[in-house]
Amino acid sequence: MTLPVIAIDGTAGSGKGTLAKSLAKKLGFAYLDSGKLYRYIGFSLLRAGKDPENEALAIETAQKLKVNLKPEDLQDPSLSSDEAGLAASKIAIMAEVRKSLLDYQRQFAQTPPENATGAVLDGRDIGTIVCPNADIKLYIDADIEIRAERRHKELQSNDISVTYDAVLADMRERDQRDASRKVAPMKPAIDAIMFDTSKMSIDEVLETALSVIRKTL
Ligand code: C5P
Repeated sequence: MTLPVIAIDGTAGSGKGTLAKSLAKKLGFAYLDSGKLYRYIGFSLLRAGKDPENEALAIETAQKLKVNLKPEDLQDPSLSSDEAGLAASKIAIMAEVRKSLLDYQRQFAQTPPENATGAVLDGRDIGTIVCPNADIKLYIDADIEIRAERRHKELQSNDISVTYDAVLADMRERDQRDASRKVAPMKPAIDAIMFDTSKMSIDEVLETALSVIRKTL
């Protein structure tokens, strides 16, 4: 018997992570934020003073992570920074890096930890590449100005001083790189249900997603 899998993809700052986490909690499913895997590799290189565009080093780091990954590695708060996000998007264009992360993600979906009865994964290619047979696929987007404004407020509330324009520019750069790369570009699966969260509250997004899921599962 295969367990239910919910695949959530979408643009940076669209609210897909918040939705995925809340859904997993409500349904008692395990949650994997696949962006953290890419962030971990990108940020490890930055922290070591290396260039995230150095493909040989990025592949080496990805292969080490594949063998040694412990869930606590992904808890480091520095991974949530925009710096780590941009570095992640640089290593995420590399086919070998993506390949080395596939098994971990698929295994998480098929045999979620702690005997969870299903899995929610979020990222850019979950519905298209990682779990093309997912039971439910959602694609979350919002106007870029609104996403940048939300992110800017979040950073300010954490006392991180950065301008709105800088946040917007980083987001634009990241979306552009994610959507235009050759391998596993960010795009909705053909059978994904599209959500535009520009005018929706977090609760509205969650309720709408839950009603879709209840109809299907
Ligand atoms: O989702 P998050 O913003 O944390 O992802 C950081 C970066 O990691 C993305 O901008 C993207 O380049 C990369 N990523 C990816 N595929 C995924 C998840 C994240 O390419 N499944």
